[in-house]
Amino acid sequence: MKTNHRIHLCLAKMSDTGMEQKYIQEAFDSNWVAPLGPNVDAFEEALARHFDRSGMKGNGAEKSHSIEGDFSTPLRFARNDVYVAAVSSCTAAIHLALLLLGVGKDDEVLCQSFSFCASSNPVVYCGAKPVFIDSEEETWNMSPELLETAIKDRIAKTGRKPKAIIVVDLYGMPAKWDEITAVSRKYDIPVIEDAANALGSYYKGKPCGTFGDLATLSFNGNKIITTSGGGALVCKDLETKKRAIFLATQAKEPYLHYEHETIGYNYRMSNISAGIGRGQMTVLDKHIAHHKHVHQLYTELLGDIVKGNFNNDFDSNFWLTTILFKQPLDTEVFCLDLDKSGIEARPLWKPMHLQPVYKDAPAYTNGISEKLYKTGICLPSGPWVTDEDVRYIVETIHTLYTQNSQL
Ligand SMILES: Cc1ncc(COP(=O)(O)O)c(C=O)c1O
Repeated sequence: MKTNHRIHLCLAKMSDTGMEQKYIQEAFDSNWVAPLGPNVDAFEEALARHFDRSGMKGNGAEKSHSIEGDFSTPLRFARNDVYVAAVSSCTAAIHLALLLLGVGKDDEVLCQSFSFCASSNPVVYCGAKPVFIDSEEETWNMSPELLETAIKDRIAKTGRKPKAIIVVDLYGMPAKWDEITAVSRKYDIPVIEDAANALGSYYKGKPCGTFGDLATLSFNGNKIITTSGGGALVCKDLETKKRAIFLATQAKEPYLHYEHETIGYNYRMSNISAGIGRGQMTVLDKHIAHHKHVHQLYTELLGDIVKGNFNNDFDSNFWLTTILFKQPLDTEVFCLDLDKSGIEARPLWKPMHLQPVYKDAPAYTNGISEKLYKTGICLPSGPWVTDEDVRYIVETIHTLYTQNSQL
């Protein structure tokens, strides 16, 4: 059966109750049309409470992610000690995280190679050097073993410890946090958790976005919730959040005239975007449930080529469902063929250590991310994707694939 609409990977979907428009209207009515204001404060608070309350998951005290209004408990009692700064993008948040950790010229930062370029590009913005680490097979995120190998080797080669580690919860799948944390603690190197894809994912009952010393989120139009474009930095104390906001608002010293002792950035989130974010927080639970449902349906219809579904320790939000073909094929051509049938699909990330722009960067590899890139694609998974869409996508995949070989 042919659908008469294009099926996107993950398209933004506003709440049925129109909460986003309500908060935008409030901003217009009160003339808070600026990169600060009540929506920014409330969105940050709602996110902090998401982490606070989701920290109780698995202890029999689960509460909703969809938090509005009840801010009666002071944040300093937050279980996870989470302080959120809303910014213009996840890329900006990663840049701020690096600055807060003191990353500067010629420092080395260990980065997950299998990711979007935004995980590592901010390292270059700081004048520092990314060193890429390959993935492990289970979660596709940074291999803890290779991480330790790389740390030892960088110390031997440069005489200095890498300044930070950037680990990603890619496609929503939590990284192996116990092992990564053990290595980072052993060598006393701070971790930035790039949780751009992983709002609403959990590792051993603890929410993604709370594992790094600092963590980052994305609210781009294609994420599990959106602010049209935007991001957040998740901090563990209020001082760090204040410093992040200082850097994100041009590093203005506290004088009436503009005084600057530090280079600052224009990275704050607008009160209009934050209004969308506030409204989207009311549908976060619903979106997560939908992504998981879509993933489950793909699994039922496609079998074990669908990635995921392992034990409860790795509770992914399945931002995007990904599949690995058993026989190698040209994933680029396959996605173009799907496109002709109205289906947006994309090859898995091309690892950063294979990107021309990073050809001179050191890399510690095991072949896993390269193999994933050559054999996998991601499938439409967002809130607009219906069961009928999934059946049509699976049917089309089968037809295209059997033209070449067997699934
Ligand atoms: C893993 C990862 N990190 C960072 C980003 C960048 O997010 P933003 O577009 O909000 O800067 C993305 C965007 O897709 C991403 O997938």
